[in-house]
Amino acid sequence: MSTKPIGIFDSGAGGLSIWKEINALLPSESTLYISDAKYAPYGTKGKEAILKRSIINTELLLGMGAKIVVVACNTATTNAIAYLRKNYQVPFIGIEPAIKPAAFNTKTNAIGILATKGTLSSALFHETSQRYTKDLKVVEQEGIGIVELIEAGALNSMEMKQLLQKYITPMLDANIDCLVLGCTHYHFLNPILKKILPEEITIIESGLAIARQTASVLQKNNLLNTKTSSAEHSFFTNGSREVMANLMRWKKTSIQKLD
Ligand code: DGL
Repeated sequence: MSTKPIGIFDSGAGGLSIWKEINALLPSESTLYISDAKYAPYGTKGKEAILKRSIINTELLLGMGAKIVVVACNTATTNAIAYLRKNYQVPFIGIEPAIKPAAFNTKTNAIGILATKGTLSSALFHETSQRYTKDLKVVEQEGIGIVELIEAGALNSMEMKQLLQKYITPMLDANIDCLVLGCTHYHFLNPILKKILPEEITIIESGLAIARQTASVLQKNNLLNTKTSSAEHSFFTNGSREVMANLMRWKKTSIQKLD
């Protein structure tokens, strides 16, 4: 049993969607959240740069006492988690685009995957995709510009709507019935996507699965917080606190500035 916090990081506010699921499933666990927004987006960076940021975030979280690290970013997971697992003692939880559930659920045998360039070009993504989508039509689309708009506070802008329309059109032409959101930032797009997509298309995300995986790994390692004392949550960003606060209006909390 451990009362130490769960550490979570992302290139920005995207991982808050994972934080929400973890907090809902494990309400007695304390958390630390790092938004590395000053260095966003990760998706257009090379593997070395993504690895460097992942190491810095991990060490910050470990320095603050994290008992486990959740890499709440598909781009960082697909590029850096193998290194992190090899080089640090604590358990790591990663997130990858939910290709498997999409492959099992599709009836039209066509799925769409919206993710960053860094994720779509990674060896780990390629491996998973090969394993589950052999007999399927897969429309992969880089979400160029989406993370930048979200981190600039322009989630509901006309530019965002136009970008999404452009990215979704080839998927609709291919008759997809499942759309995988392969970047944690894209969770915020749900309300816009629901207006653009026909009703029969299912949006698939990995958040709940990641929360369950976190609970299971904590339990296996005897790290669950079984005390009933109230949990503490700390949020940090090296980007705009205002943008982050706007994206997490569901939680009244202070956001601390990180250098
Ligand atoms: N939230 C991210 C992901 O899940 C990072 C995107 C980015 O910074 O480009 O991939």
